[in-house]
Amino acid sequence: LRHLLDLERLPAERLDALLRRAQAFAEGAQAPSALAGAAVCTLFFEPSTRTRLSFQLAAQRLGAHILNFDASTSSATKGETDLDTFRTIQAMGVRGFVVRHKGDGAVAALAEAANPGVAVLNAGDGRSHHPTQGLLDMLTLRQAKGDDFSKLKVAIVGDVKHSRVARSDLHALRKLGCGEIRVCGPAALLPDDGTLAGCTVTHDFDAALDGVDAAMMLRLQRERMVEGLVESLDDYHRNYGLTAARLRRAAPDAIVMHPGPMNRGVEIADDVADGPQSRVLAQVANGVAVRMAALEALLG
Ligand code: CP
Repeated sequence: LRHLLDLERLPAERLDALLRRAQAFAEGAQAPSALAGAAVCTLFFEPSTRTRLSFQLAAQRLGAHILNFDASTSSATKGETDLDTFRTIQAMGVRGFVVRHKGDGAVAALAEAANPGVAVLNAGDGRSHHPTQGLLDMLTLRQAKGDDFSKLKVAIVGDVKHSRVARSDLHALRKLGCGEIRVCGPAALLPDDGTLAGCTVTHDFDAALDGVDAAMMLRLQRERMVEGLVESLDDYHRNYGLTAARLRRAAPDAIVMHPGPMNRGVEIADDVADGPQSRVLAQVANGVAVRMAALEALLG
């Protein structure tokens, strides 16, 4: 594996191997020298809390040196291009780049400029891919529901159109043989570009939740909306917000996931986000394990 840019092209057996190694890290496996002497740069052109910090912690636990690039305090503010920024840091001997960018395909474009032996990990590009989020979501599902997804019913709900998380989850769920994938949201927030092929698509949230094993709620991404939200936040919450009352339509042991950051009171109510079925913080914890597995696989 040279780079980790998406889950779409990752063979199912590689995906499974990464999840197994991540599970070992989640159970306490250690590899403190796996990346000894290597430098890893978190190169973020968009804000992040979970992804950036968990990649940094993961790299630290594998013995790497960490460089943190923050676009807002860098020479990017003086007009330096993304490619020159990448090449500049690469010239310092950095071996691993964890890159987030608002542009679709921007991370893959930087990977094209990587020297032999240098790996690029996509930490989220535009609406397209967020592979390590997809991996940590699958690990969270496996921990709750077992490795066999063939009978699993999963609902992905909300702003799918602007969501790189949803796209990566869809690729991963299909590769792992998920029994049924339901996708739900208002028409304006569902993509019509083939992304949802093979999914059961509905605008009826109650129907989407009926008997599901997992509800994956998505953040309403107002910063990516060109046309603005077609309904008020109150209406959105009424139609597509997950409340404790609504969650009773799901299977009794259903889990609730959200990639974060959450818009509380919009796509998810407090009593669900903080309730017994929530796996939101388990997802965060799994993020460190998954990113250790990914860094080790590419740079170890
Ligand atoms: N889920 C996720 O990517 O969160 P951050 O934007 O905080 O990294």
